[in-house]
Amino acid sequence: MGTWHKIIFGDCRYMKEIPNGSVHLMITSPPYFNAPFDYPGLFKDYDEFLDLMRGVAKELRRVLAPGRIACFVTQDVRINGKLYPVVADINRVMMEEGFTYRDRIIWRKPEGYIRISRRSGVQIQHPYPMYFYPDNIFEEILILQNGKYKYPKITPEFNSSKIDINEFNEGKWYLSVWDITNVLPLKGRVEEGIAAFPEEIPRRLIKLFSFVGETVLDPFLGSGTTMKVARQLNRNSYGYEIDLELKPIILEKIGYSPHPLTDDSIEIYEREDARRLRTSLQKKVEKQRSVVKKTRT
Ligand SMILES: C[S@@+](CC[C@H](N)C(=O)[O-])C[C@H]1O[C@@H](n2cnc3c(N)ncnc32)[C@H](O)[C@@H]1O
Repeated sequence: MGTWHKIIFGDCRYMKEIPNGSVHLMITSPPYFNAPFDYPGLFKDYDEFLDLMRGVAKELRRVLAPGRIACFVTQDVRINGKLYPVVADINRVMMEEGFTYRDRIIWRKPEGYIRISRRSGVQIQHPYPMYFYPDNIFEEILILQNGKYKYPKITPEFNSSKIDINEFNEGKWYLSVWDITNVLPLKGRVEEGIAAFPEEIPRRLIKLFSFVGETVLDPFLGSGTTMKVARQLNRNSYGYEIDLELKPIILEKIGYSPHPLTDDSIEIYEREDARRLRTSLQKKVEKQRSVVKKTRT
């Protein structure tokens, strides 16, 4: 039997298309506040960003089934030298909404993948104490739980959801640090200009926290990575994305066809509150880059 996937263009603070308690796993990476190379000026200030997270947390509490998991892939954001504690604040907002803090995984990226700047260069220029600024090569995966989970009695029908223990051991999924290469949003890639996470992250989380045939949600869909992997792993999915300009990218990534060869159904809804962001954000990012280049030369 095929799976279904619903893409809703609109603000994820309002997930009215989703009935109460009908989602079994949430995986997302919210916008990185106003990160200079991803979302410059997207929010008026940090409070506006936190308001968005509060709105989403409230909806997550409503749509997630009892005991189910919400995963946030994120990191603290530095803007003009000031570090914003995004990870701690999302955790706090979710706990205030009633979720339990279950775990935290460090997603470690390879050393050569530093995207923004080598802050450690300051120490090399000034080989004295107090000039230490590390290069960042990790993000965090926050794992929160919606109350107590009632484990089902395992019957043969659960065989298709069984975790492959060889894969689990070989990939060292059992550690609290996952070494996974990240996606660089380079020119020409489908994810250009989108802070996409690698497919390996939702692949592990979906296998570890949901059963075949269940429903996965990504409220900040971006290029559609979570939906693509949910479809591959025979889960249904909902994805919310505010930026209508990402529609062709999402459809390409999840393999949409108007004449599908499979039983999977893909529905697309465009709500009044959708916006057009990508072109204007990319212009601002280009401007930031030229300022950085000028200050370096
Ligand atoms: C970090 S990206 C997600 C990337 C995604 N994980 C991927 O792999 O492509 C965050 C996304 O959230 C979207 N977004 C920002 N505010 C939103 C809102 N209020 N409702 C829905 N989507 C929103 C942005 O347009 C952006 O595409």
